[in-house]
Amino acid sequence: MAKIISGKDVAEKILITNIKPKVDDLKLKGVIPTLVVILVGDVQASASYVRQKEKFAAKAGIKSEVRKFSETAPEQEVLDEIIKINKDSDIHGIIVQLPLPDHISVTKILNSIDPSKDVDGFTPTNVGKLFLGEETLVSCTPKGIMLLLESVNTDLKGKNVTVIGRSNIVGKPVSILCQQKHATVTMCHSRTKDLTAKLSDADVIIVAVGVPKFIHGDQIPMGSIVIDVGIHNVDGKLCGDVDFESAQNKVSAITPVPGGVGPMTVCALIENTVIAAERLSNKN
Ligand code: GUN
Repeated sequence: MAKIISGKDVAEKILITNIKPKVDDLKLKGVIPTLVVILVGDVQASASYVRQKEKFAAKAGIKSEVRKFSETAPEQEVLDEIIKINKDSDIHGIIVQLPLPDHISVTKILNSIDPSKDVDGFTPTNVGKLFLGEETLVSCTPKGIMLLLESVNTDLKGKNVTVIGRSNIVGKPVSILCQQKHATVTMCHSRTKDLTAKLSDADVIIVAVGVPKFIHGDQIPMGSIVIDVGIHNVDGKLCGDVDFESAQNKVSAITPVPGGVGPMTVCALIENTVIAAERLSNKN
């Protein structure tokens, strides 16, 4: 029987054992960890993700605030807000919810965030540090995936990890984190030839390709661990990048959708905000 890895449960455990004690320590020093989320436009999914972030922040006892901009807000207006937040010593974490409207440059926006407050780990400085193996703020979904693997005691040393998807947000950074844990990583994507062959010796499969039910049970080697990063609404029902029904008969463990990676992304964001608050308050 496959183990279903509940991201909801793992996030709750990390909240209690790791995040809350740190928040309490900071509050004793007069520091209230504070996160600002910038939301531009009316993408429904983004609004829902932001609500989940606010909810988890409240549970952790940290302050969070959403600053909303209209779909047509000029790029400079958003940049000005970020510059203001960079200078505000009461704010420790800042994220700009993606996607942004087409007239706003994601690169320009991300480049403007102070790396010490970049709790999404998206700035070139923090991505570079991750690449070099230096201390940084690690982007939230990859960090959440590593915590999920830890939660089922997966020692990646010498293991074969196949990552499907090469995005800046998930595929590329998680491949680096797995290599740091001494895994042998194979990078695949939607145009990889004979994906089934590439998966044949995988111990761990991380699927972040953005296509509903892209991977089926018959492609998955017996006993592997599957992490499904996708979330899609198909005919009113949520599903991932993996066909859960056929996959669950092959795997030793698998994340569900919803309730797998999603809650861990949120948990990692709040943990990053606390880490940023610790580092910034130690500097002052
Ligand atoms: N949109 C989808 N995932 C993310 C994320 O992890 N961070 C931000 N800022 N936007 C996103």
